[in-house]
Amino acid sequence: ASTLGAQAAVTGRYFGTAVAANKLSDTTYSTILDREFNMITPENEMKWQTTEPSRGSFNFGPADQIVSHANSHGQRMRGHTLVWHSQLPSWVSAITDANTLRSVMDNHITQEMTHFKGKIYAWDVVNEAFADGSTQHRSSVFQNVLGNGFIEEAFRTARSVDPAAKLCYNDYNIENWSDAKTQGVYSMVRDFKSRGVPIDCVGFQSHFGSGGPPSSFQTTLSNFAALGVDVQLTELDIAQASGTAYANTVRACMNVSRCTGITVWGIRDSDSWRSGDSPLLFDSSGNKKSAYNSVLQAL
Ligand code: XIL
Repeated sequence: ASTLGAQAAVTGRYFGTAVAANKLSDTTYSTILDREFNMITPENEMKWQTTEPSRGSFNFGPADQIVSHANSHGQRMRGHTLVWHSQLPSWVSAITDANTLRSVMDNHITQEMTHFKGKIYAWDVVNEAFADGSTQHRSSVFQNVLGNGFIEEAFRTARSVDPAAKLCYNDYNIENWSDAKTQGVYSMVRDFKSRGVPIDCVGFQSHFGSGGPPSSFQTTLSNFAALGVDVQLTELDIAQASGTAYANTVRACMNVSRCTGITVWGIRDSDSWRSGDSPLLFDSSGNKKSAYNSVLQAL
């Protein structure tokens, strides 16, 4: 096939990108989006600071724009993200009472998932809960006020709201099998599966340096998949966009049957949160870079 989405679909996978609502009116942007990609993750529009900027007052407008674009162009959606320490309004981080925070977290999950019910293929229920260089959770208002159980609480709540959506744990720096952080997340998923805590997938953000993925990446993906979860590359970008590094990344996914799809974190280099690294598949004018061809070939 001649596009990323169509080629990924040959093996039942998807190829997605992060989308910003305010760029949908840029026709260079939307032309590439609708030609190449069949899965969309809102880059910021489903984050807590946007969707519930003050307690109990919800704003789904920007995300609705993206969902409606996806609906009319045959694209599926990943929901990103329900519980995260970052891009979190200060009214949430200021909560010190556990009962209050638990009901605020559960209400946020319930309201947001209910609003988008039936329109989201997979939710990043909890994002980046583990500390770098450690097997333990990072400090956050959720961890500090609710304790270790907050992740399980979030997943159980999410399942009860939309039983049809896949529920993912998403993180970065969990691509190298021997890293402590990878082992910490692996132990959590193994524990969840053994106790029946609902979890369906693990998202590997895959924000790589110029060398691309660690050599153990495929091992990591297949070890997680063996626990009984899908794995996905959820925010891929690679400094300098070397074709070899991109091809190695795509092959790691293709070689694991439960690796169900790949999402790059933006369309053109100028759209990237790391634009100084030129890490994406299209240049700032929207032309295909050589890494694009490497990816298409590896799919
Ligand atoms: C980034 C967005 O790309 C930026 O526009 C925003 O300013 C900060 O967040 N991990 C994640 C993503 O899970 O949500 C982040 O996205 C990048 C790191």
